[in-house]
Amino acid sequence: METIEAIRAILEKGNVVAMTGAGISQESGIPTFRGKGGIWERYNPAIYANVAGLFGVFLTKPYRMRDFILEFYETIHNAKPNKAHYILAEMEKRGILNSIITQNVDNLHQEAGSKNVIELHGNMLRFRCTKCMKENKFDEEGLEEFIYRLKRASRLQLIRLIFPKCDCGGRYRPDVVLFGESLPQDEFGRAYVEVGNANSLLLIGTSGIVYPAATLPFYAKEHGAIIIEINPSPTALSHIGDYTILEKASIALPKIFEFLTPPI
Ligand code: OAD
Repeated sequence: METIEAIRAILEKGNVVAMTGAGISQESGIPTFRGKGGIWERYNPAIYANVAGLFGVFLTKPYRMRDFILEFYETIHNAKPNKAHYILAEMEKRGILNSIITQNVDNLHQEAGSKNVIELHGNMLRFRCTKCMKENKFDEEGLEEFIYRLKRASRLQLIRLIFPKCDCGGRYRPDVVLFGESLPQDEFGRAYVEVGNANSLLLIGTSGIVYPAATLPFYAKEHGAIIIEINPSPTALSHIGDYTILEKASIALPKIFEFLTPPI
């Protein structure tokens, strides 16, 4: 309990930033990337997490690529925010939490009501034109229809579905960052400003091994932020943590939050 009390005292000062990874959505039914049953166990990320690899799979085994994409969309479609997402949204509402920097592409922070969400790796529900950069985001119905059509698409229809034409003549693609691609620079820049100014950084459910996202906690630490890690297992970032709670996010966060009062 001492640790929880110390963390509460830090968070009550406000100016908190949260950085989240796949672990926070695990209890919403989205398996983590690297955990048991995670998607990288069944699909080699060296192939499936980069553009050239995915293109190669499409040419040789188009339905294998379809199944990979379908699994992502169906999992996200079936997921709902859990307690941990809602608590972060409530912390923002009460003026304790400034922002969430997330590596997740599942839109669950926004669904829980969080407003200031910085998405380092994009968002699966959003498509972006690669030429004019126009964005489109699925609503519930749009996502359902996309999944329905994806399941029934021929090889040619697959390309049209996943890379639909834009009015400008370019093509849309899911707005997610694959390995070897740059992070959205405006989002990444904002994330640096947020962690550089934070009193404390809540590090929730990330293995901390994917760069450049994993540089942010080091930058926060250098700039004086207190690092509080919540994760059932130690991670590559645990050594810079001032406090570590080795528990699932939806168990640890309610314990802390039940004592929290907003800053004056
Ligand atoms: P990982 O799958 O690498 O790590 C998930 C972390 O969540 C692990 O440290 C788990 O111990 C922890 N975890 C599991 N269940 C949890 C729970 N209930 N509560 C809290 N923590 C829990 O996922 P990320 O660190 O998010 O990038 O991965 C980072 C990036 O690697 C992803 O954004 C994705 C991936 O490849 C791209 O696709 C570019």
